[in-house]
Amino acid sequence: MKFFIDTADVAEIRDLASTGLVDGVTTNPSLIAKSGRPMAEVIAEICDAVPGPISAEVTATDYATMLREGRYLASIAKNVAVKVPLTVDGLKTCKTLSDAGTPVNVTLCFSAAQALLAAKAGAAYISPFVGRLDDIGAVGMDLIADIVEIYSAYDFKTAVLVASVRGPQHVIDAAKLGADVVTLPPAVLRLMYKHPLTDKGLEAFLADWAKTGQSILGAETDTA
Ligand code: G3P
Repeated sequence: MKFFIDTADVAEIRDLASTGLVDGVTTNPSLIAKSGRPMAEVIAEICDAVPGPISAEVTATDYATMLREGRYLASIAKNVAVKVPLTVDGLKTCKTLSDAGTPVNVTLCFSAAQALLAAKAGAAYISPFVGRLDDIGAVGMDLIADIVEIYSAYDFKTAVLVASVRGPQHVIDAAKLGADVVTLPPAVLRLMYKHPLTDKGLEAFLADWAKTGQSILGAETDTA
């Protein structure tokens, strides 16, 4: 399973990329707005910081302008994946860009029917929003199960990119269903490291170790 980071905060991305666990980044217009910085500059910096796919989203709503925006975004760096919303014009744009070899991430997916259309339009990624479905009382993960089943039945190459992730349990549930990618808010990736028994156990190990008066690196110096 691949881990993407869902943010446009370059400092945060650099910090998390140093873990070696980050395979890509997703942004959207809201995240770019939150960064308070020019989009092209932010996308170029992220593409430099992380070698994997970096989703940059168009903001036009008509096919012709979406296509121009998509081509421009793809020209910023080799690892840009153009993100388009799941609309008729968005999927037309997806088809044209995908046919020309540009990877496209189709976003704002809330139904299996939409996901089927995106796959037929040649999307490299489909982004179902699980958290926003949970927010309205639906079960976001049921959508992931449906999409995984449909895509595997027809051997579609579109990767299932689980988005709008709210916590580690979403990641575990998505992994159990065999989703290809999750895009994680930085706080969720940080939470995944945490367990109170890890903290408690480490504290006890270190307290016992301190009583010995030993130092591992001190031993290295002694034997050198
Ligand atoms: O990037 C798209 C998606 O992950 C947004 O998540 O938390 O705004 O629903 P959220």
